[in-house]
Amino acid sequence: MRRLGGVILAWGVLFGAAQAEETATAIGDVDRGERLFQQKCGSCHQVGEGAKHGTGPHLNNIFDRKIAQFGDFLYSEGIYRARRDGMVWDLDNLDAYLTNPKVLVSGTNMDFRGLAKAEDRGDILAFLRGYSSSPQDIPEAAPTALKQDEELSPEILAIVGDPDYGEYLSTECTTCHQLTGEYDGIPVITGWYEEDFVLAMHAYKRKLRPHPVMQMMASRLSDEEIAALAAYFGTFE
Ligand code: HEC
Ligand code: HEC
Repeated sequence: MRRLGGVILAWGVLFGAAQAEETATAIGDVDRGERLFQQKCGSCHQVGEGAKHGTGPHLNNIFDRKIAQFGDFLYSEGIYRARRDGMVWDLDNLDAYLTNPKVLVSGTNMDFRGLAKAEDRGDILAFLRGYSSSPQDIPEAAPTALKQDEELSPEILAIVGDPDYGEYLSTECTTCHQLTGEYDGIPVITGWYEEDFVLAMHAYKRKLRPHPVMQMMASRLSDEEIAALAAYFGTFE
């Protein structure tokens, strides 16, 4: 864990009333997080007193709230689906979303490549945590310490799937998912980039995505089988 024993100043801001609060936080470095936030997120998101929606929603009170909480911001369909499934922004989800937004929400409108470095994500989350209503109640464990070991290794993404094997396995999927590419309430999974497909399946497997049926489906598949399915469904236009 980084900065063990180091006391870092976190600013607790309660609906605009700034109050300094000394917290030893293991999430990250608040000051560095503020600078990174301005660089990486500031063009689309505001946070703090008087923050308004821009390209992205403002980020006050994000922690421990349901995903897509603002009624006056129009989100993507993918994010609304995650909300219906009951997803809440906890440290793990936020960390996964910032690593690569598409892992959690395939069709997200957040046009952002993601932050590969755990340290950068931790610092930004430490900064944002100060703008949620009860920062002291939000767990202090480094987000990256929790799910890091399970993070997808480049080897898994590099597996070349066998589309014929994928076709054989796919009968289990096409009872629900249409091959015609028509949306009938169940998402369309044909014609995806293979990598996005693999990321989505592993997000169910890791239980980062909340849907219980898909968690169960994904949990039964090996890495090779997921790659094969990605290759097969990817062959459709
Ligand atoms: C290019 C613009 C853009 C950038 C850069 C960007 N975002 Fe976003 N963000 C969005 C949009 C648009 C959404 C809404 C996503 C959707 O509807 O799928 C969003 C959604 C979010 C949400 C979910 C909000 C909610 O109400 O549920 C969080 C959290 C978030 N962004 C954090 C960040 C952080 C932290 C950064 C910087 C590391 C960042 N974003 C960078 C545009 C951006
Ligand atoms: C019983 C019906 C059912 C079966 C069987 C099923 N799925 Fe799904 N699948 C769903 C539903 C419902 C969702 C939307 C879940 C959500 O809200 O996250 C989904 C979501 C997905 C997604 C993410 C879509 C997106 O837009 O993010 C992928 C990828 C996927 N399924 C692949 C598969 C594969 C591969 C199989 C076969 C191994 C399969 N599914 C079997 C119902 C099913």
